[in-house]
Amino acid sequence: MSETTSRPRVLSGMQPSGNSLHLGNYLGALVNWVKTQHDYQTLFFIPDMHAITVAQDPAQLRERTRKTAAQYIAGGIDVDKSILFVQSHVPEHAQLAWVLNCITGFGEASRMTQFKDKSAKGGAEAASVGLFTYPVLMAADILLYRPQGVPVGDDQRQHVELARDLAKRFNHRFGETFTVPEAFIQKEGARIYDLQNPTAKMSKSASGPNGLINLMDDPKVTAKRIKSAVTDADTVIAHDRENKPGVTNLLEILSTLTEKPIQSLVADYEGKMYGHLKADVSEAVVARIEPIRSRTLELLDDPGELDRLLAQGAAKARGIAAETLADVYAKVGFLPPMGTVV
Ligand code: TYM
Repeated sequence: MSETTSRPRVLSGMQPSGNSLHLGNYLGALVNWVKTQHDYQTLFFIPDMHAITVAQDPAQLRERTRKTAAQYIAGGIDVDKSILFVQSHVPEHAQLAWVLNCITGFGEASRMTQFKDKSAKGGAEAASVGLFTYPVLMAADILLYRPQGVPVGDDQRQHVELARDLAKRFNHRFGETFTVPEAFIQKEGARIYDLQNPTAKMSKSASGPNGLINLMDDPKVTAKRIKSAVTDADTVIAHDRENKPGVTNLLEILSTLTEKPIQSLVADYEGKMYGHLKADVSEAVVARIEPIRSRTLELLDDPGELDRLLAQGAAKARGIAAETLADVYAKVGFLPPMGTVV
């Protein structure tokens, strides 16, 4: 399907801040992105400019950006259906972010919980201004393409809410410009928890690696981590987030992967041990992620082809982004460069 289709649009992205996407990224976001390709015009990008809000090794960032793109494709993003690109290849993101920074309140930005969490970890003095203003760049990422929906996991809800507020504010002050986007958050998989600390979300920045399931890990490592997942001293397999967070997380992972309702899984496990559940989760996870891992490795064998696909995607993305930015610049009153007619 061509990018000029009039179907409603969705857009989303994942930071290239690790060597692998994890199961939370996959079940909370990528699985839903793949589904949207049927009904929407889809744009998926790699937010490398977001990644540098915390220190990155330059060579590693380049490698991880390609790796992330390869995992999108291996996970089901079809470059003939979706526009796949790297954020820094489309300068309009930073340009729109500046305009949006100027209509965002300092207090409003200070209330973003992810900034509060991240800056609390490293100390507020060490946090960069980029980290502080990151949700505004994310709003620019979204609003540039005027999408109806943003498929994300639950932890990005507040950021999409800010994008909505900024769209409404800009439209109110300067006239109808942006589509007010909605967060598309699926109930299943919206929040996958750490295997070792099942009350905290699974995250690249978790305190230890054993709570993570990475798409790019050796299947043996994955199986071992699931086997060692923290459960509880009880023996009953039940869905109870409050009292049995570890077992509940495993049930939710299995339910999302098998598309079997939680209650029917709970009924199947009546009288069975935690070991049975873990073995089944492990089998389902490995069966799903192993083909993604091997396809990613194949794609990474030809970085030139990946770069070509990304350049093609960036050209298409710029076609849309440049139009929105020109509209915004004219509305805020920037004098057009000589030779431009408005
Ligand atoms: P990031 O890179 O932290 O996460 C990428 C996606 O994965 C989801 N996710 C999870 N879902 C379920 N359980 C989890 N444990 C889990 N951990 C992560 C996230 O909700 C997200 O959908 N700011 C964004 C990247 C971004 C973006 C954008 C997204 C930049 N600009 C514009 C959408 C639109 C981020 O850091 O996601």
